[in-house]
Amino acid sequence: MTDSGAHLRLGVLASGRGSNFQSIIDAIRSKQIKAVVAVLITDNPSAFAIERAKKNDIEHLIISPKEFGSGDDFYAKIAEELKKRRVELVILAGFMRIVRKPLIDAFPNRIMNIHPALLPSFPGLHAQKQALDYGVRISGCTVHFVDEGMDTGPVIIQAAVPVRHDDTEVILSERILKMEHKIYPEAIRLFSEGRLEVRGRTVKIKGQPTPDAAIVNSPLMKP
Ligand code: GRF
Repeated sequence: MTDSGAHLRLGVLASGRGSNFQSIIDAIRSKQIKAVVAVLITDNPSAFAIERAKKNDIEHLIISPKEFGSGDDFYAKIAEELKKRRVELVILAGFMRIVRKPLIDAFPNRIMNIHPALLPSFPGLHAQKQALDYGVRISGCTVHFVDEGMDTGPVIIQAAVPVRHDDTEVILSERILKMEHKIYPEAIRLFSEGRLEVRGRTVKIKGQPTPDAAIVNSPLMKP
């Protein structure tokens, strides 16, 4: 992927298949977002996200937490590598760890995460199963800034996704994932345009009122 001064420099952290990473790559290619992925960092040497990075000429680093004495040192190393590459926004795309202070302090309000539920409902692992087990009729996904809690930072965009009576975890996850792939690039676009302003725990979207940027509803009748 080619670099350019005017483009927002992203650093992506992923642990697995990286379909959200791919949606961001695609949004950059189609010029929906003016950004460049400076580096992919993974904690998992067999993450499929690595293949996606290779295919798109994106540098990747494998950083294993086992090589570090403490979690803080692991995150300090990640922050160092991101800074070295002049990353401006850190994207957690299926990064299966809770980010710690050294990274958060290095990128205040500059780390985003996507979660497959309407936060603050169903934080943590297996959010889609949590939603099914609870019996909610509407779930969805959330892009938020990252703080030291688990899925607790200020919400940027949410998309509502219906839950059907015969859904399985796999089917619901797929339906939510389609919306994840829409709202994550959109949140990055808003950031790249300087339109996100964090005020306490809320995020204001500057510029013209964009009700459907703040909440995206998927059609209730379509899969
Ligand atoms: C997504 O469901 C995301 O919401 C969650 O982890 C999953 C990652 O999927 N944080 P992928 O690796 O982006 O395909």
